[in-house]
Amino acid sequence: MAKILGGLTSSHIPAIGNAIAKEMYEDPYWKPFFDGYPRVRAWLEEHKPDVAINIYNDHGLGFFLDKMPTFAIGAAHEYKNDDEGWGIPQLPPFPGDAKFSWHIIEHMVGNEFDITSCQELAVDHGFTVPMQLFWPGLEQNPNFPRAIPISANTVQHPIPTLKRALAFGRALREAILSYPENIKVVVLGTGGLSHQLDGERAGFINKEFDKMCMEKIVTDPDALTKISREELVLNAGAQGTEFLMWMMMRGALGDKVNLLHSNYHIPISNTASGLMLMECVN
Ligand code: DHB
Ligand code: FE
Repeated sequence: MAKILGGLTSSHIPAIGNAIAKEMYEDPYWKPFFDGYPRVRAWLEEHKPDVAINIYNDHGLGFFLDKMPTFAIGAAHEYKNDDEGWGIPQLPPFPGDAKFSWHIIEHMVGNEFDITSCQELAVDHGFTVPMQLFWPGLEQNPNFPRAIPISANTVQHPIPTLKRALAFGRALREAILSYPENIKVVVLGTGGLSHQLDGERAGFINKEFDKMCMEKIVTDPDALTKISREELVLNAGAQGTEFLMWMMMRGALGDKVNLLHSNYHIPISNTASGLMLMECVN
């Protein structure tokens, strides 16, 4: 049966993709950010997951405002990356696991989550930047896993609630655990933490709120479901809605987790960057 090893969170800011391309690991601006990652990479090297379920929010590459699925799951053999206009080098396609994707989709729809299934999906920085951070070298990395993208709408209101995001993750957990193949799975939640990219509050960051979210997501994620979508935007900024991805990931980990590592760094570009590694207890 499939096993869930744990969950990872990471910011997915496009500027990180550029810093990786330019190998700016020792640059004083970037060093405190990149220094968070070796601990997580060591854990990944130790446990070698076969599949990474990458929960991210598409920003307009795979979907646009004309058609915006609330929840979408990739069901392709590979996922292409494309130029989004951020100046990041385009990456080679990411290998998928279509059979496992369809198992998950079957289970989620059977569980009354109405999914958009995507046999073709271009993946944007929300997906690609964390893959580069966790598996440097991508396909050159001997431990590079197959990936399944799951995207939720955080862009065009109405977005899902935090409660629904956590419930989605819990149903995803059942879907993964019922897969009969002996594979090891890691679940990623990308984006966040607090940030707002435009409007009067551009540059908004809320350290206190972020720290509270980083604590509660480990110990009591249900408490975070009390936060309304309006309160989330107010406290985390217009793009801080990406915290939904973290809640979806957290739901997939089960009730109890061990926090093995976390790093919080502000700012990277316009964003408070949060890195977490949570290991499943059972
Ligand atoms: C930035 C952050 C994001 O989450 C994003 O999708 C794009 C840009 C930023 O801080 O620059
Ligand atoms: Fe984003």
